[in-house]
Amino acid sequence: MVGKTVLVTGGNSGMGLATTIAMARRGAAVIMACRSRTRGEEALAEAKRPSGSDNIRLMLCDLDSFDSVRAFAEEFAAGYPVLDVLINNAGVVAVGNSYNCRRNG
Ligand SMILES: NC(=O)c1ccc[n+]([C@@H]2O[C@H](COP(=O)([O-])OP(=O)(O)OC[C@H]3O[C@@H](n4cnc5c(N)ncnc54)[C@H](OP(=O)(O)O)[C@@H]3O)[C@@H](O)[C@H]2O)c1
Repeated sequence: MVGKTVLVTGGNSGMGLATTIAMARRGAAVIMACRSRTRGEEALAEAKRPSGSDNIRLMLCDLDSFDSVRAFAEEFAAGYPVLDVLINNAGVVAVGNSYNCRRNG
């Protein structure tokens, strides 16, 4: 992953944080797109330690807001010529998945 740019939405917790760490360990430049600066900064520090990488950056993006998404896209496009990998981790709601189907009949 050296030389690759990876964007992880919701990179500040759970699977997003684990993915951030795993990608950074493999040498990628990782951008954590998070909606909370406070939670994002805490997670950024948390990700740098185990990954041993300084090539992780926090960018703010609230996927509930088109204005925030547009501002994020502009900032990203201004700073990076290419996005190699998008991990669409945040805010996915699994309705009618197999667990719910079994539970609800
Ligand atoms: N955990 C599992 O076993 C599992 C299994 C299969 C699939 N998945 C999928 O994997 C993904 C992550 O799951 P998880 O368990 O790691 O969830 P999680 O711990 O709840 O993490 C979700 C992340 O998404 C962020 N987020 C939510 N809404 C957002 C928004 N509007 N804008 C920006 N960020 C937002 C959260 O940020 P805040 O901290 O600000 O809330 C958090 O960082 C989900 O898509 C889930 O469906 C999970």
